[in-house]
Amino acid sequence: MFADEDSPAFMAGAFEFLSALWLDEEKVRQAFQSGNGVGWHDHSACLFRDTERFFRPGYNANLIDSWLPALEGVVEKLERGVDVADVGCGHGASTVLMAQAFPNSRFVGFDYHAPSIERARKAAEVAGVGVNTRFDVAAAKSYPGTYDLVTFFDCLHDMGDPTGAATHVHGSLKPDGTWMIVEPFAHDHLAANLNPVGRVYYAASTFVCTPASVSQEVGLALGAQPGEARLRKVVTGGGFKRLRRAAETPFNMVLEARP
Ligand SMILES: C[S@@+](CC[C@H](N)C(=O)[O-])C[C@H]1O[C@@H](n2cnc3c(N)ncnc32)[C@H](O)[C@@H]1O
Repeated sequence: MFADEDSPAFMAGAFEFLSALWLDEEKVRQAFQSGNGVGWHDHSACLFRDTERFFRPGYNANLIDSWLPALEGVVEKLERGVDVADVGCGHGASTVLMAQAFPNSRFVGFDYHAPSIERARKAAEVAGVGVNTRFDVAAAKSYPGTYDLVTFFDCLHDMGDPTGAATHVHGSLKPDGTWMIVEPFAHDHLAANLNPVGRVYYAASTFVCTPASVSQEVGLALGAQPGEARLRKVVTGGGFKRLRRAAETPFNMVLEARP
């Protein structure tokens, strides 16, 4: 739990995350009074590293061996060599993992937060995947290019206009492309989320995800626990015809959207 960064049970990132919440309490208190929100980029820098350390063990344990194989025909395409955009990539943990596993494919990580993109570029260099990986500063509603696979890891609900992002993803996918949406695990109703995982996510959501969404255009404020039914409205609102839950863990659910 505390010593092995690669263990799926590694929790030190979550405890470090709490320190970021304490440091930013005053900003969040003011945001509750003003209604203005707190941008992801306005938080203490440790939040960005903590988020990477909290989510990466789950990606290490599941992304290559179970989440991608759960999507229709995606692994075959990745092995052959296709174009992938990882949007809201943060420090690029998911991008680097996919680039290592599928050297024939080309990966672009996008995030609106420039310091995270800098960090992701260094991570790709250290991991030796500089050849098939690129990182650029861009927002979810305006990133460039056309892709076979677009991935969003734990970030759709943080965005002010997730439906606008869904519309942009739809326009950036090839006709037979796939949008993979990894979101914090949540049931559709509050009562069903009152378990240890849901409680952690509601707390983090109140301090980080909801104020981050409120700070952006539209400010939909889904929070970290919207559940599949609410996410379905966002995804189909962006023009997607098919959506199914492809996989889940206690911490994440993986949705597959097709144009
Ligand atoms: C909870 S972090 C997840 C980061 C990374 N995907 C991971 O799983 O470690 C949310 C990320 O979404 C990014 N983000 C938020 N709003 C965005 C937007 N409108 N366009 C692009 N990125 C955005 C933030 O900068 C942040 O890096």
